[in-house]
Amino acid sequence: MKEVINKTIERKILLNPGPATTSARVKSALVTEDICPREKEFGDLLSDVREKVKKVVNADSNYEGILLGCAGTGAIESCLSSCTNTDDGVLIIENGAYGKRMKQICDNLGVFSQVIRFEWGQVIDWKEVDQFLSKNSSKFKVLAFVHHETTTGILNSISEFKSISDKYKMVSLIDAMSSYAGINIDLVKDDVDYLISSSNKCIQGMAGLGIVIAKASELERIKGFKKKSFYFDLYANFLSQKEKNQFLFTPPVQTLYALNEAFDEFFEDGGIEARAAKYSGLYEKMHEGMCAFGFTPLLEEKENSRILTTFLEPIDKNYNFESMHNYLYQRGITIYPGKVDEKNSFRISNIGQLGSEDIQLFLDLISEYIEQSGIRLK
Ligand SMILES: Cc1ncc(COP(=O)(O)O)c(C=O)c1O
Repeated sequence: MKEVINKTIERKILLNPGPATTSARVKSALVTEDICPREKEFGDLLSDVREKVKKVVNADSNYEGILLGCAGTGAIESCLSSCTNTDDGVLIIENGAYGKRMKQICDNLGVFSQVIRFEWGQVIDWKEVDQFLSKNSSKFKVLAFVHHETTTGILNSISEFKSISDKYKMVSLIDAMSSYAGINIDLVKDDVDYLISSSNKCIQGMAGLGIVIAKASELERIKGFKKKSFYFDLYANFLSQKEKNQFLFTPPVQTLYALNEAFDEFFEDGGIEARAAKYSGLYEKMHEGMCAFGFTPLLEEKENSRILTTFLEPIDKNYNFESMHNYLYQRGITIYPGKVDEKNSFRISNIGQLGSEDIQLFLDLISEYIEQSGIRLK
């Protein structure tokens, strides 16, 4: 028996930092035969995707890919709850909202943690981190940070992070939510213990799956630890996937099909070099255009991830984010509010299945909006 499903939809341009615009190919993969996720066919798909997850960051056989049915935050929660034993502490380096979130997760889990805080948007002072650890390292087992702080668009250095975690023999845990598959990360070189992302950002799949890439030796280390969560027990989820080729709990079935397609599209398009170069080109066009209008970026260009840019809001009585957002939204483009408390700002991301023509359309509409609303930017 066959079923025909035909649907024509509007293509939307999402300039928020994920969920990102997906290709028609990825969207189509969602429409698939109903299947019980305990069937072998689905298990084979899971096993394939777990390998593809690793390939993006050049993770070799020392690593395991683990998928969890959740938002990215769930994957972080799973790692933070599972990588600490009863008395282990986590030191979190914060320079944005997602570093702050890791602390909140630890607090809710009852995991001892402390934050070394830098201003949001400020470059991490690695000497300060080093000095702090030289006096306090015995309190902490895990060092955690955010690679690309989506709060501001700042790109934090994995190699600096890793050299500190190595120096103090700490477990290294990285939130790479909005950099994985958009910026080159090489786990053979960087050798971190946990790298975390999700299905709906630079890999350009649908929302619903958390991605964890963890060292196999690390998974061995944590297996007897006191459990702090049932659903997010990373080791139990891993074991089910490794030994039975099955998710531990009901997964978002169709999201996995779409993610598989997103990985195939990623590799066929030329892998990480091609994607990073494409995002970089889109960033340059967007950044140049916005600066030419007179918008001011929060960060210096050399600190920017080239994935997301924070612009300071113009000080002009005619400017209003809501109305600019709505003007664009009604015309198929979504932009994102800022997240830095002390500075009024908005954010433009350039990830997803976008082309130069999409950025041009965005700039044309911004130009139109500036003219119609009478905002003075210069
Ligand atoms: C760096 C970073 N960490 C964590 C998250 C949280 O991901 P999610 O919204 O999927 O829970 C985000 C979301 O934008 C993010 O950018």
